[in-house]
Order: sequence, then C-alpha cells, then structure tokens
Amino acid sequence: MQPLDLVVLTDTHYYSKKNWVDGDPDAFAPPREQLFRRGSEEILRHVFDTLCRPGEPEILLISGDLTNNGEVTSHEEIRALLRGLKARGKRVFVTTATHDFRGEGVSYGFDRHGQKVDVPAFSREDLRAFYREFGHDEAVSVEEKTMSYAVELTDEYRLLALNDDRGYDHAGFTQECFDWICAQAQAAREKGQFLLAMTHHPVLSPSPLYRLIAPGDLLEDGEHRAQQFADLGIPVMFTGHSHIHNISCIHSARGNPFYDVSTSALAGFPPNYRHVRFDPDRREVRITTTTVESVPGLALDGMTLAAFTEKQFLGVVTDILDAAENDYETFIRLADGFSLRETQARKLRGVIRPAAKWLNALTFGKVWRWTRRTNGVTRAQIRPLQNRRVVPFAVQMAANLYRGDAATPTDSVEYRIADALFARLDHLAVPFVAKLRARGIDSIRGTLLPLLHNDGLPDADCTIRLP
Ligand SMILES: [Fe+2]
Ligand SMILES: [Fe+2]
Repeated sequence: MQPLDLVVLTDTHYYSKKNWVDGDPDAFAPPREQLFRRGSEEILRHVFDTLCRPGEPEILLISGDLTNNGEVTSHEEIRALLRGLKARGKRVFVTTATHDFRGEGVSYGFDRHGQKVDVPAFSREDLRAFYREFGHDEAVSVEEKTMSYAVELTDEYRLLALNDDRGYDHAGFTQECFDWICAQAQAAREKGQFLLAMTHHPVLSPSPLYRLIAPGDLLEDGEHRAQQFADLGIPVMFTGHSHIHNISCIHSARGNPFYDVSTSALAGFPPNYRHVRFDPDRREVRITTTTVESVPGLALDGMTLAAFTEKQFLGVVTDILDAAENDYETFIRLADGFSLRETQARKLRGVIRPAAKWLNALTFGKVWRWTRRTNGVTRAQIRPLQNRRVVPFAVQMAANLYRGDAATPTDSVEYRIADALFARLDHLAVPFVAKLRARGIDSIRGTLLPLLHNDGLPDADCTIRLP
C-alpha cells in the first residue's frame, strides 16, 4: 500500500467581518475570549496559502464548526476560501457541526455599542447542498439523515466523514447511522482498503477534567463506540469540538486499538493543525503538529499568533478566577466559553465560589505547610517559592489542558507540592470523590495531575503503531 498524506484542521470558527460594526472588529473593544474570531479570516487565508506550497499534501480534512454560529456571511466567505483551495489543486473534505447552523435561522453580529444584533444564519438543512462539493459530490455512499459520507481517497483508502450532531441535542450516532458505518467497514474490508474517519465530538475524553466539566460534550456512549470502531477496523478518528490538542487511545476487548486524535481550534489557543502520514505497510501512522506563528495582515501587538492567543487565553482564565470569587454572573458568562454550561455553573456555585476565593489567596508556602508530612519538600527547597501565588501556576495548568503535552518535571518542588495537595483534597473531600467516581473519574488527583505532566501518549507529535 502506498502511504497516504493529509492535513487535518478543525474548529475554524470563521466569523465574517460583515458582522462587526462597519466591518471593523476594532470599532469597539471586543471581550477577551478563548477563540480569536477577529482574526479568523486572516488565519485561514494564511494557513490555506501555506498549505498550497510545494510538498504539502493534496488532501485536507476539516471536522466541523467551520463558522462562529452559522452566519450566512461567514459560510459564504469560508466556502469561497475552500473553493480557492480546490482551484489550486487541493482535495477538501468537510463535515459541519452544531456551530454551523441555528435552528431559528438567526445568529448575531454587533452594533456600535458592542451589543449583539440578529443576523441571518443557515439551518441544518441548508448545509447539505451548500458544502456538497466538499465531500458529497465525490462520495461513494451518503447516510442521508446525518449527512455523513464515505469517499475513496485513493483505491486503497476510504474516509468516513461522520456527522454526529444529530440536529443539536445529542452528539452521537443513531442505530441507523451506525449500521451504515458497519456497511462501510464491510465494503472497505472487501476491497482491502484502509479505513480512517473524522467526526466532530470527542469519542474519548481528551482529559479526565473534560469529562468532569463537559460530560454532555462527549460523543454519546463514546468509550463503547470507540471499542466498536476499533473492532470495525477504524484505528484512527480525527475529532474537534473540545478545542483541546490531545491524542488518546483505548483498546477493545479483542485487543484492537482506537486512537482519538483531537486537534485544537485553528482560531483559538493553541492555533494548531496536523500533518498525518498513514503507512499501513510499516504498520504506523505518523502525526505532527504545526502551530501557526505569524499571520500577514494581522496586528498582534508584535507577537506571534501562538503567543498572542496564549496571552489572551491566560488573561481569560485569570479573569474567570477573579469573577468566580467576586462576580458570579460574569463567571457564568465567561465559563460558557470553556464548556461549563450555565446550569452546571449555577449548580456548582456553592463549590466554585469558595474554591476560587481560597485559590486566589493561596501561596506555595501555605500549601507546603499543609502537606508537609507527605510532600517530601524541605524547608530550604520551599524558601524561594514561599510567597509565590498559586494562581498563575493553576492558570498554566488550564493552558496545559488545551495545549497538551504538559511537562512539569515530576521531581520539581511545584509538582511534588501539587501532588501532595491533590492527594490531601481527595482525602478531605471523600463524598465529592464518591460523586466523581459515579462519573467514571477516580479522584481529584487523577483528574488534575495530567494537567501538570502528560504520561500518556504525546499530544502534538506522535507515531501510532498499528498491530
Ligand atoms: Fe468549536
Ligand atoms: Fe463544536
């Protein structure tokens, strides 16, 4: 089998400038947010130009959330950019997701005061015809209800571009759609084709913390589905939605592997896309990450895009921690951008508010004293960190969630103190931990330590060994 090269990106969240006042995103000061929608057009133009350089793969996959919220203007502009790619010889396959349509056909723009105003948006049904040239037209089979499709990328490779939005309320696959997936796997087997797939929502949780804060954002019955995919001979699924850069793996009872390769949002932090080489003869899939650095035409206070979006992200997290203590309504609004839903945020108020207050005042010296019996850190070792606040460290943990590949040395003073603290919290909050267990999360320590040090698969650059 010939190796197959492709590029994967997701969650472009393209936002047409026509939705800002006078087409100018700087006409009022937009709030800091995790997604950098103001620059979504420039980022995409730049990345597409880069992908048209010699030596870049011919095939590009985009797994949903193409637009901010389904604005007609955003769809028209991003489709024009996709057509430009095709005109330059690329083969582009997209699926859409819940940010690409609004049931009521209305999204929002902004007026002169920064207030939201209605603008027209696509319905889910509008998307079918609108993007047909980026998948359906070339498909060997289409699952009509979900708009999922299968294409033969070459004689030897079949792509399943799955649409898991189920028209809003659930992310998952109906039995009908799953039967279609099984039939596609059968067809691929009969032709001796290698099978790969993409879908929008995470099949496996990209982090134990994500399962805690956003259980409804995971694909329904994901771990079971993952095992089914593994046994159907789909070893790799490209996903998006969480905006987290991560690679996770599970094995089925029969020992078949399934890898969920989640790519961060191109218009967010970190602004990443992936190159992938499938090489079935060598039994491997090689994955590398490109972080978008400079973007022509985008004023970023003299920073690279990666640095700018990181600074923006860290600022948002700091704002959130401050609001969680001092202004809970603002907290609820900001937290929504991080998948913590309003109902969930209101329910957790009694935990989050005191926790934020406590965290905002915390120093390493204090934590060292509480955990003195178990942290193994001497007085001399803690002295230089004595008065350092814990919050910036915690903010970096949040950044690590999205960036992946957390790399705090496990023998560092900070790591050892945090480890001892999480273990202590597990001990103190036994009833809370019991609730976590009911959600399939073993402990606070097990939830938070991966944000300090990744001892799972590498998230950015990873060579997957196939059995
Ligand atoms: Fe998204
Ligand atoms: Fe999404």
